[in-house]
Amino acid sequence: MKIVSGPASQNLAARVAKEMNCELVPCEFKCFPDGEVYTRVEGVEGEVTIIQSMGSDTDIVYLLQLIDACEDADRINVVIPYFRYARQDKRFKRGEPISAKTIARMIAGDRIYVINLHSRKVLDYFNAKVVELDAVPLLGRYISEKIDDPLLIAPDEGAAHLVEELEFDYEILSKTRISSEEVSIERKEIDVKGRNVVMVDDIVSTGGTMEKAAQMLREGGVKSIYVACIHGLFVGNAILRLFRAGIEEIFATDTIESSLSVVSVAPIITRGVK
Ligand code: R5P
Repeated sequence: MKIVSGPASQNLAARVAKEMNCELVPCEFKCFPDGEVYTRVEGVEGEVTIIQSMGSDTDIVYLLQLIDACEDADRINVVIPYFRYARQDKRFKRGEPISAKTIARMIAGDRIYVINLHSRKVLDYFNAKVVELDAVPLLGRYISEKIDDPLLIAPDEGAAHLVEELEFDYEILSKTRISSEEVSIERKEIDVKGRNVVMVDDIVSTGGTMEKAAQMLREGGVKSIYVACIHGLFVGNAILRLFRAGIEEIFATDTIESSLSVVSVAPIITRGVK
């Protein structure tokens, strides 16, 4: 098998190639002056695994180009570490598109692998066979190695399954979204005094959710607060916002590559694809 790395997932693809003892295929990516992107893949044959995350809309175009460029392969696996638009998994208002469905239907391949989709409903939107991989145990291992007697906090109901899956103490908060940048968190009496708290969510985008939850926890006399997420989008000044809110450390996986990607999802991709 050969590994084809998209521009958004080069570290992760290299980790997977190393674990699987596979060749990384040479690829060329560039952007024309009008913003169109160009992709070229060399030596496509046999079975290929394309790894490309969707951190931006341009990343989606690169992924579609890569799939087309690999058309002559005998078998194509497509790994999408972060699947963009999964939060628009339904029509919230009349006249809206189901963006997740629009994107999912464009993805072709013999087998598609996604990691912790924001909404499992999206699995039904693919025309191709799709497998969802779970990065939560990897985050759990990191937490247990790093933090003494942690108390996990899910900042909203949507993140409840993440903390329920791990074998630590946990609490679930209730969140109301006011705008794309602002949320409110319902006050809850939790005994956090002297505890090492880890707030866990699937996505950190603007950091607004974690910032609000951190404010509440600090009032309860928490010892330290960590932020753990699978998909660290960290848009704008999210990181600054979180550290200003008194977060000790932020850790994310490499589904979206950044300096905070301390947990690699390479082992679950390797196991999944094999
Ligand atoms: C939404 O429900 C997700 O699970 C996250 O809670 C959300 O995307 C976080 O966004 P932000 O960091 O902008 O508050």
